[in-house]
Amino acid sequence: MPANEILNQIIALISSFEHPGVRTFKDNLVNWGDQWKAVSLQWLPVANLLPSDLHNGIVRLTKRDVTMEEIAHLLGLFHKYKDQLHWEQSYSKADKAVSRAMLAGYGFAEIIGKNGPFLSDRIRCGIGIWGPHISYPKHRHQAEEIYLVMSGSAVFTLDGSTSMSAFPRDVIHVASMRDHGFETQAQPLIVLYLWQSGDLREKSTFV
Ligand SMILES: [Fe+2]
Repeated sequence: MPANEILNQIIALISSFEHPGVRTFKDNLVNWGDQWKAVSLQWLPVANLLPSDLHNGIVRLTKRDVTMEEIAHLLGLFHKYKDQLHWEQSYSKADKAVSRAMLAGYGFAEIIGKNGPFLSDRIRCGIGIWGPHISYPKHRHQAEEIYLVMSGSAVFTLDGSTSMSAFPRDVIHVASMRDHGFETQAQPLIVLYLWQSGDLREKSTFV
């Protein structure tokens, strides 16, 4: 199953991270479970934003950078298998806080979680993509979350005031029920997201 390769690379990437916000996720990721099920294929155009040429503006390495190499490898696998994944959205037009631009330009594909393909009630993990200049309004959820930026950049806002720019290899840690949102910049933002604790398919509440 192609997702096996993706799963193994996610574990390799996260295992290589020493960021304090990542540490608590490692155990749950390595011990995600032992069952899988096939997911139905579902396409979203946003998957076309996955880079096909990792050396074209994605990774310019002047010296050996293991983390960026792991990220590039994972992005390559997502690109290779993009039409064999289940691309979905959490929000719809009924969610007034979410702009049309975001609905037209975002999506995610889960690799580990309650719906599979790798079944877990301990951890949720997948790839999220947002097109350029999209605002993801501030929201909150019970689960603790990390976003690992793999490509592009965004300005994240936590709580009322803290803003920070995030670039590839940066990790944004979001504690349970902490307000968070972001605005993508000129390039599409591609993240690996992980959730743990709480309802792993909870729909976020907008602030
Ligand atoms: Fe979130």
